[in-house]
Amino acid sequence: MRLDKFLGDHNIGTRKQIKEYVKNGRCSVNGAPVLKSDVHINENTDEISFDGIVLTYSKNHYYMLNKPVGVVSATTDKKQETVIDLLKDENVKGLSPCGRLDIDTEGLLLLTDDGELIHRLLSPKKHVDKTYEVHIAHELSDNDVRRLEEGLDIGDRNDDGSKKLTLPAKVTYKEDMKTDDEGNPVILLSIHEGRFHQVKRMLEAVGNEVLFLKRLSMGALFLDPDLEPGEYRELTDDEKCSLDIK
Ligand code: URA
Repeated sequence: MRLDKFLGDHNIGTRKQIKEYVKNGRCSVNGAPVLKSDVHINENTDEISFDGIVLTYSKNHYYMLNKPVGVVSATTDKKQETVIDLLKDENVKGLSPCGRLDIDTEGLLLLTDDGELIHRLLSPKKHVDKTYEVHIAHELSDNDVRRLEEGLDIGDRNDDGSKKLTLPAKVTYKEDMKTDDEGNPVILLSIHEGRFHQVKRMLEAVGNEVLFLKRLSMGALFLDPDLEPGEYRELTDDEKCSLDIK
């Protein structure tokens, strides 16, 4: 791969900045300074350092996307634009969305080629927290909150036919936004499962309706508020660390 791509993948700077940094002798390959950023390196065998710090190359790729409404959480689709289509400037080979958001849901979606991480975050046994901003048709009563938090029947059944209640959840309110621009109540709902249309069905089960849904977090990963819908970026080293990515 090209040296500037390698450095860009480490969030060293833009292509233009990288060209300048390299020209100024800040980068070396196998101990020897390199002054041109368009040289090819072998990311698996060459030792690349920047300002004296050796950069390790991760074989996997991790992107945080603010999924916009109207795009499907799939790798391919015959009719609709997919989340992978949004990363058209990247090498998307092997990338998959980590879980699904409905077509009309916005927010945090992790895209990666790290199957182990996908498995770890989606495994029903791990109960990874997900927090959603939920705009709803009317206020929740205390009883609605209690039912949502204790666990309720959203129509799923266990193998023996008994009701498969949702796991306990948490309802909180957004400090800076109790209602949206149209005056609809806004809540934060944290759940520990990922059942099909789960948030919509939970609100339906208490006689309410979801008008807009946005995922804000998944496990230790939080949606970057600077990402507009449709925008994405690579995970930072801190974010990778918080997800225990080696
Ligand atoms: N729950 C839903 O109902 N939809 C989503 O997209 C995510 C969680």
